[in-house]
Amino acid sequence: MPDQNYRIALIPGDGIGKEVIPAAVKVLQAASSLGDRFSLSFDEFEWGCEYYLRTGRMMPEDGLERLRPFDAILLGAIGHPTVPDHISLRQLLLRIRFGFDLYVNLRPIEILPGLEPPLRGKGAEDVRMLFVRENTEGEYCGVGGRFKQGTPDETAVQQSIFTRKGVERVIRYAFEQARRRPRKRLASATKSNAMAYTMVLWDEVLGELARDYPEVHVANYHVDALAARMITHPESLDVVVASNLFADILTDLGAALQGSLGLAASANLNPVQRLGPPMFEPVHGSAPDIAGRGVANPIAAIWAAALMMEHLGEPQAGTRIFEALKKVTAERRIRTPDLGGSNTTEEFAAAVIGKTVRL
Ligand code: NAI
Ligand code: MG
Repeated sequence: MPDQNYRIALIPGDGIGKEVIPAAVKVLQAASSLGDRFSLSFDEFEWGCEYYLRTGRMMPEDGLERLRPFDAILLGAIGHPTVPDHISLRQLLLRIRFGFDLYVNLRPIEILPGLEPPLRGKGAEDVRMLFVRENTEGEYCGVGGRFKQGTPDETAVQQSIFTRKGVERVIRYAFEQARRRPRKRLASATKSNAMAYTMVLWDEVLGELARDYPEVHVANYHVDALAARMITHPESLDVVVASNLFADILTDLGAALQGSLGLAASANLNPVQRLGPPMFEPVHGSAPDIAGRGVANPIAAIWAAALMMEHLGEPQAGTRIFEALKKVTAERRIRTPDLGGSNTTEEFAAAVIGKTVRL
C-alpha cells in the first residue's frame, strides 16, 4: 500500500487545455505507478468557457472552497472566442491565483535536448533562466473603472497596486532561488525611469534585500532593455524577478527562446502560507487556432506535471517525468507540428510514457 495519496484537482479548461491535460495525466499515472510510496487520485472540474455559457459563471460561487482540500491543481488553459478574455481569465485563473494568495509564479526557461535553439549563435547552454513572476497584485490587481462609457469623453482607469509586502516577498523568494543556483545571479525588471512610484518602490526593496544576500550578484534592468538582453545576451541571465505584467510578457518571449509556446511550464505557489493548493499550468493559452485537432504540444503540460510532483514533495517522480520528456526530445523522432513534426499530442505523450522508468 502506498504511504501517501495525493489528491489532484484537474481543470483542463478550454481549447487545447482539454487535449494537453489528459496527456499530462496519462504520464503522471505511468510515473506514479512506478513509485512505491505514493499514489495519485484525480478529480476533474469542468469549469471554463462552456461552463460559463451554460451557467453564467466561469466557476461555481463556492469554487475555491471546493478546490481547497486538494493537494494541487493542474490547469490547462482558459479562454474561448465566445467569452471575453477579461471575464474568462479574471473569473477563473486569476480568482484562484489571488484567492489562494499564490504569489509566486515560477517559470523555467530552458532548451530541451534535441530541440534547435531558435537564436542564431546561441546554444542550449546559453538559455537557462528561471523567471519569478509576481502573481497576486501589480498591474493585474483589477482595480479601475470606466466613465462616460460610449461617449466621446469616455475614460478608462486601470490601477496598478504594489505593496511593500507583495514586492518584498516575491523578490525575497527570487533571491532564495538565485542563492541556491550555481551562478547565483538575479536580474530584476524595472521601469523606474518612467514609473516613478511603483517601480521606484520595487527598486528600493530590491536594494534593501540585496544586503541580506551578499553572495548573489544583482542586476537591475529596465524591462525594455531586459527584453533585448534576453535575445542578445541570454547567457547573462539566471534568475529573473518581475512584476505580474512585465513577467507575463517576458516569459512568452522566454517560451519563444525555448522554441515554442508549447514548451513553457509554470508553478503558482505560496511558499509561506497555505490558503489553498498550489496550481501548475502550461504558460500558453487555449490556442483556438489549433484546438480540436489533437496536435497541441503537451510538453508544457507534462513539464508542469513534473513541477507539481517536485512541489508535492516527490522530487524523484518529478525527475522521472522530466528525464523521460528529455529522452523523447533528444531522439528528435516524435514531434508535434509547432516543432516542425507531424505527431499528435497523444503520440508524444505515449512516447514519454514509454521512456518513464524507475530511476
Ligand atoms: P495562445 O498561447 O493560446 O496561442 C498563441 C500561439 O501559440 C497560437 O498560434 C497557438 O497555436 C500557439 N500555441 C500555444 N500553445 C501551444 C501548444 N501547446 N502547442 C502548439 N502551439 C501552441 O495565446 P492567444 O492566442 O493569445 O490566446 C488564446 C486564448 O487563450 C485567449 O482566450 C487567451 O485569453 C487565453 N489565454 C489563456 C491563458 C491561460 O489560461 N493561462 C494564457 C494565455 C492566453
Ligand atoms: Mg501569458
